[in-house]
Amino acid sequence: MKRLGLLIAVCGFLSGCSRLDMQDQPKYKYQRPSEFFADGRTGRPEVEGTIARGNLEEDVALYTGKDEKGADLEALPIPVDKALIERGQVRYDIYCAPCHGRVGNGLGMIVRRGFKQPPSYHIDRLRSAPVGHYYEVITNGYGAMLNYSAQVPVRDRWAIIAYIRALQLSQNVNANELAADVRSKLPQPGQESAEQKAAIKMQPLAPTDADFTNFPANPATPAGVPGAAGAGALKPSNQPERK
Ligand code: HEC
Repeated sequence: MKRLGLLIAVCGFLSGCSRLDMQDQPKYKYQRPSEFFADGRTGRPEVEGTIARGNLEEDVALYTGKDEKGADLEALPIPVDKALIERGQVRYDIYCAPCHGRVGNGLGMIVRRGFKQPPSYHIDRLRSAPVGHYYEVITNGYGAMLNYSAQVPVRDRWAIIAYIRALQLSQNVNANELAADVRSKLPQPGQESAEQKAAIKMQPLAPTDADFTNFPANPATPAGVPGAAGAGALKPSNQPERK
């Protein structure tokens, strides 16, 4: 009886080593050539019209910013709440403010350093432009502005647009639409406190020459770096002329 047990154990051990398992199945390895397919590739191209799960994009308004007739949407295709606007603010400050400025006046730091100045969001034409136009600009670019479709996913684009609408309101609200307690705190024109005057000054809506000449000099370049201190160092005075 003992011997039989031993025999079974030995047989089991030997068969375990013979590797007659899935490791030896006939299969192609990743990116190896194939003799079976006419194009010689093992990796097969997607069947035309294949859509990855979760990428059906059935919601035309959401993904194109247009209605079924192809006109720019007048209203956001997703519900707007405070969380969306706050998300928009964060994304706006990262992706748009460098050129359009934190308040949307078109005076971002890149513009102050010479990039084409975008129009302010507070001009009548852009105030009345439909939200679909903003979606189009972010998705496909506009003139000198490249598109941000790779950096900003669809829902974030709408969040940014909701925030731009909030920015526009912040600079152009009808005082009668404000709640009474907020309205009562508004200064009468010409009677702003020093603090309020300073706040208004900090956010100029129209650029002044000072915006383009008084920006701080670049931080010192460490010695030994080509162009460091002295000749060639980047100072406002040797910035290219703004046209
Ligand atoms: C690198 C600088 C830059 C960045 C970043 C940038 N823009 Fe622009 N944007 C421009 C310039 C320049 C124009 C004007 C283009 C022109 O008229 O040739 C413009 C124009 C626009 C316009 C006005 C289009 C019109 O009808 O006149 C909108 C709206 C706009 N941008 C939205 C955005 C949004 C939203 C973002 C962030 C996702 C963004 N931009 C990021 C430079 C930028």
